[in-house]
Amino acid sequence: MRFARPLVLLSLLTAAASAAAFDRTTGDGVYTAAQATEGEKIFEQVCMECHLPGWHHTVGFYAKWHGKPLSALGTYLKLEMPQTDPGVLTPGEYAAVTAYLLRLTGNPPGESPLNDDADALADIRIDTLKSAP
Ligand code: HEC
Repeated sequence: MRFARPLVLLSLLTAAASAAAFDRTTGDGVYTAAQATEGEKIFEQVCMECHLPGWHHTVGFYAKWHGKPLSALGTYLKLEMPQTDPGVLTPGEYAAVTAYLLRLTGNPPGESPLNDDADALADIRIDTLKSAP
């Protein structure tokens, strides 16, 4: 009987963890290499005016996005960036820029392109692997 209570607690914790589970993380190869290359070009043309790539692996970037659904970053980009003209890119271009940011933060490419659909992105947890620039 001594162990009964911790076991109950443990199973409650496990249930809570699985309820919040994501299908995949950004470490699982959720974009293609070609997409990230396209995103890099867009970044250079549209985003570099205000930020350098190194900005996206600062501690602040990690604190804000690590563990969040990828849809949070995707929606943020669409609604807020580029700051002077939000929404100016096509959905495919936003997906490409997101793929580039993932590559920049050490997440590997995979076989299928990143979908720009918010519902699909909601199933992917941002799991930035590199902890330093
Ligand atoms: C006109 C300047 C400007 C341009 C162009 C611009 N940004 Fe930004 N961006 C900002 C500023 C300023 C912030 C900080 C906003 C805040 O903290 O509220 C920001 C914030 C961000 C963030 C959040 C950073 C963090 O630490 O969480 C991301 C991601 C981002 N921008 C991506 C992009 C991308 C991708 C593009 C190109 C499509 C872009 N930005 C273009 C000015 C710009």
